[in-house]
Amino acid sequence: GTRTFTMIKPDAYGSGNTGAITKMIEEAGFGIKAMKLTHLSAGRAGQFYAVHKERPFYNDLVTYMSSGPIVAMILEKDNAVEDFRKLIGATNPADAAEGTIRKIFATSIEANAIHGSDSDENAEIEGSFFFSGLEKF
Ligand code: GTP
Ligand code: MG
Repeated sequence: GTRTFTMIKPDAYGSGNTGAITKMIEEAGFGIKAMKLTHLSAGRAGQFYAVHKERPFYNDLVTYMSSGPIVAMILEKDNAVEDFRKLIGATNPADAAEGTIRKIFATSIEANAIHGSDSDENAEIEGSFFFSGLEKF
């Protein structure tokens, strides 16, 4: 299969939904290839979301993403990037389809429970941001 990268964000981790979200991911057919609990500094969160540097919400996003622990994972499945974006739903939970992770667990457009890579190239870059070659098997 192909790979994607995800993070369970501070809101979902903090509300105790890591297990429920991970269960949905596995039940949707994604294999967990690497997994890590960590707490991003503002500097690291800013680096991860550097593509959004010029957006008006960037500073809020960095503050939010460094506000508590996150769970990072590399996932594997056929058509992983696209199928995972479908599983998580729209960025704004108000627009997310029924049954998607964001519809069920997100609380706002910012505290939206989970990240999913938007391309194969970014999945590789983001996975390598969190995991060394030794941890990716
Ligand atoms: P990610 O999977 O986290 O990359 O989300 P996405 O691809 O659905 O959205 P995008 O990459 O455009 O934005 C990255 C993150 O910035 C979102 O997941 C939100 O947490 C946050 N964000 C996006 N748009 C807004 C906004 O208008 N206001 C605020 N406060 N946050 C936003
Ligand atoms: Mg994105």
